[in-house]
Amino acid sequence: MSEILCVVGARPNFMKIAPIMAAFAAQPISAKLVHTGQHYDPAMSDSFFEQLGIPRPDVNLEVGSASHAVQTADIMRAFEPVLDAEQPRAVLVVGDVNSTIACALVAAKKGIKVIHVEAGLRSYDRGMPEEINRVLTDQLADLLYTTERSALPNLLREGIAEERVQFVGNVMIDTLRAHLERAVPAERTLGAKPARGHAVVTLHRPANVDDPATLKSLLETLAVLAREVDVVFPIHPRTRAAAERQGLAALLAAPGIRLLPPQGYLEMLGLMVEATLVLTDSGGLQEETTALGVPCITVRENTERPITLSEGTNTLTGANPDAILACFRDIRAGGGKRGRIPEYWDGHAAERIAAHLRGWLDSV
Ligand code: UD1
Repeated sequence: MSEILCVVGARPNFMKIAPIMAAFAAQPISAKLVHTGQHYDPAMSDSFFEQLGIPRPDVNLEVGSASHAVQTADIMRAFEPVLDAEQPRAVLVVGDVNSTIACALVAAKKGIKVIHVEAGLRSYDRGMPEEINRVLTDQLADLLYTTERSALPNLLREGIAEERVQFVGNVMIDTLRAHLERAVPAERTLGAKPARGHAVVTLHRPANVDDPATLKSLLETLAVLAREVDVVFPIHPRTRAAAERQGLAALLAAPGIRLLPPQGYLEMLGLMVEATLVLTDSGGLQEETTALGVPCITVRENTERPITLSEGTNTLTGANPDAILACFRDIRAGGGKRGRIPEYWDGHAAERIAAHLRGWLDSV
């Protein structure tokens, strides 16, 4: 029996759980790790466990890909017997993916306490599946750890009691700081360092890649960027499949675009730290670029991580080509937003969680 059952499922969960497992071991808090198998390709999963030294999962639910309903239901069905067998005192979930809400819901219905790391972030855009996962997970959580102070008013507005909420900082930035020195140089990943500089691009949100007109316009905009800088594009399997399905594969081969398979954490860190800019629709990259001081163009209308706008290097452009190109020109001309490091993004968030949680477990 362990005190805490920690859950991961998809790529953005792995860099969040790594420092938490380490801090729990040091506290000590006895913890086991469940991998739902939402992401399963070695490049999307195993490589992160290896590079970040995450303990092998005690259980893998091996659910794989499916529609939202089927994937969420499969995780719930597979997770329930694990909870029955393990009888933990609490289940800890991170982030906002389908694995997060699925396991939180199973635990809450069984009367097992739920801990949510990265609570209270809101885009106020229910068109994003992650927003639904965030709101519902926070409603189920007994203890909510937040990454930025704007999260608390969001939670209070939803009727969540303030004493459940703890501002601890950003565990993903713990991982970034711990591994920065080991980042793989861009030169090694790309064969040679691009003489004219490079932009790192990631796109995978349904709003950007599922609609053929939007994806076509975004890929054409990348081709314009690629006239001035190398566009390094580690492509998500979902985006590659969408481009092929929509007959847009030729645009991925435009001059200056360097398509890569999904990259490991250390390779991605090396590509980002040396980049002229990052263009993305990812949540995590908005925060990592702020921590690195690298300009970020976010191809979304809104962000649940507003501190990356107010204090960091992030700019929202939506998928509008003119706005993207205007921001790109600003960055080329003046280096983009400078930004500062947000409060508690200092590499010690997981230690704060472990210290607080030890006291909480001893008191409940
Ligand atoms: C999920 C998260 C998203 C996160 C993203 C990071 C939800 C709702 N979405 O989106 O918040 O930003 O992960 O990647 O949980 N696939 C593979 N190999 C894999 C995993 C997926 O090829 O290892 C392909 C499959 O075709 C699958 C598709 O990617 O259908 C989408 O995977 P899924 O886990 O449903 O969502 P993501 O788009 O990855």
